[in-house]
Amino acid sequence: MGYIKAPMNYIGNKYRIMGQIQKWFPKKVELMVDIFCGGCDVTFNTSAREHIANDLNFFVIDIYREFQRLGVEEAIHRIDDIIDEWKLTKENKDAYERFREHYNATKNPLDLYVLMCYSFNYQFRFNSAHEYNNPFGKNRSSFNEVMRYNLRKLQGVIEQVRYTSYDFREFDYSFMKKGDFLYADPPYLITRGSYNDGKRGFKGWKEADERALYDILDGLNDKGIKFALSNVSHHKGMVNEILMDWKKERKYHMHKINFNYDNCNYHTRNSAGITQEVLVTNY
Ligand SMILES: C[S@@+](CC[C@H](N)C(=O)[O-])C[C@H]1O[C@@H](n2cnc3c(N)ncnc32)[C@H](O)[C@@H]1O
Repeated sequence: MGYIKAPMNYIGNKYRIMGQIQKWFPKKVELMVDIFCGGCDVTFNTSAREHIANDLNFFVIDIYREFQRLGVEEAIHRIDDIIDEWKLTKENKDAYERFREHYNATKNPLDLYVLMCYSFNYQFRFNSAHEYNNPFGKNRSSFNEVMRYNLRKLQGVIEQVRYTSYDFREFDYSFMKKGDFLYADPPYLITRGSYNDGKRGFKGWKEADERALYDILDGLNDKGIKFALSNVSHHKGMVNEILMDWKKERKYHMHKINFNYDNCNYHTRNSAGITQEVLVTNY
């Protein structure tokens, strides 16, 4: 099955392993809550009657809210206008830097989206003052035809989602009921993503966060609500013991996910202490 790529290259996105994780998702979902949605690859590729996508990173949430407010087609028009106005190209570093300065002074979410499209590796990077500081993606990055196509394909999908930006502890889970589904893809305790290093104005992910999340998942489980949690159980000789103890104690199911599925030697490499991604489900 073909999955739709979210119109951004979010670090830690699940696009490559969509098929592997979805195989374990419930077949029929009323409300799906993607509590650490990031670039929304999982939200956009999971069918449910209703969707909520939440992430503490309000920059990404504000972009999706802006797409929603304008509608995807109008957003694409405006993106083209911004590109023309600022003379953005794959080669024009000066234009990129001028535009970045403009964004940091004005903070318009659609400008941020365009800026990211011309940046190094299409990434969101902010300094501690919440200024975007990713360098120019010289000769490589632009709002290209593939991104335009991906964005268009999401017309009618992006607009349907409710976007929120809470810390996962502050989110109101009380309205969730049987038939709903929560997907949790938090920062991984034993690896480091750039959203996880505490350097972007967002605090890092610690043991207390991991335990607080498990308490919430247990609470949902007690109410008969299904959840799936992505995590990393083993990484470079480290083991996420909190995860292993919790799933054993609560008798949850752990499915191995092969992130490097292109590499047929993965399992041998993994036993040598590389990285094991997993999906934990309570059903
Ligand atoms: C592994 S990424 C999610 C990637 C996403 N599944 C995708 O496909 O793009 C983890 C996300 O958790 C978010 N996050 C970190 N701490 C959080 C918190 N306390 N509450 C809510 N979201 C948080 C980060 O901003 C990041 O987007």
